[in-house]
Amino acid sequence: KIDIILDCDPGYDDAAAILLAAGNPNVNILAITVVAGNQSIAKVTRNALAIAQVAGLHDVPIAAGATRPLMIEPEVAAEIHGETGLDDATLPEEIVLKTDPRHAVQVIIDTVMSRPAGTVTLVPTGPLTNIALAARLEPRIVERVKEVVLMGGAVHTGNHGPYSEFNIGTDPEAADIVFKEKWKVVMVGLDLTYQARVSEEQVARIAAIPTASAKLLAEILTAFNVRYRRVRGFGDAPLHDPCAIACVLDPTVVRYVPVPISVELTGTRTRGMTVADFRRTAPEGCHTHAALELDLARFWDMMADAVSRLP
Ligand code: BDR
Ligand code: CA
Repeated sequence: KIDIILDCDPGYDDAAAILLAAGNPNVNILAITVVAGNQSIAKVTRNALAIAQVAGLHDVPIAAGATRPLMIEPEVAAEIHGETGLDDATLPEEIVLKTDPRHAVQVIIDTVMSRPAGTVTLVPTGPLTNIALAARLEPRIVERVKEVVLMGGAVHTGNHGPYSEFNIGTDPEAADIVFKEKWKVVMVGLDLTYQARVSEEQVARIAAIPTASAKLLAEILTAFNVRYRRVRGFGDAPLHDPCAIACVLDPTVVRYVPVPISVELTGTRTRGMTVADFRRTAPEGCHTHAALELDLARFWDMMADAVSRLP
């Protein structure tokens, strides 16, 4: 089994990522750590607990983390994810799961340091604040982590700004720390996630699966599609965050290539851009990678399979 820490800000697509990881038989979720992003830390933490409860993740530590970016003012994505972060999704009335008393950053450090070196994969699907703080507080995690497979950034486009993606653009300094550290980084960015469209056909397929988790996922996908159409003018919404989980599970579902990537911090129009240098073959030992191609049919098979195995 692949041991992961999922660092997220649920959010519709983060919720889908939790369900994919929870239901896939080859993943072991060591912890879910939460970061302010799509909504305030209080809201996204509550959502993480609710989704974990539906998915039956009763023994997984869930910890609240950074309340705001390192250097700049917080910015939420209410127009996409709603006031609650999961508007129009039916969550349990009573949330019985409790958060771990530790800060998320401490949970990341404790988990990585207590597991065998080279076994823990970090999967951030929100701003990189928690991950950057963990690397600064306990630098030894960098060589112990197997890889960091993050949803964020893009090679050629943006959604937060013309060239910046939301998770990078809302905390560029944290992203800069994470991309500069010498652990293996796989950037599952918009180039890839824009291929993961939520079609009506896939929503109907998920809705027909007779589990509570599938029903919830179908609601989430529907709400996400409605909002993406209204706010961004998309036909079918791109289901970003589960792509990072899919990449961890099977690098043939998400194909990636090594390429030097740095985060633009000072550009007047490009701050938060992930600058990938494709001018020549990546140098030996290049630690950053960009995901470029998705096997869409297998991606949806994975999503459907996961929620069919959950409560
Ligand atoms: C990213 O931004 C967030 O709104 C989504 O949850 C995803 O992680 C896509 O740019
Ligand atoms: Ca997210």
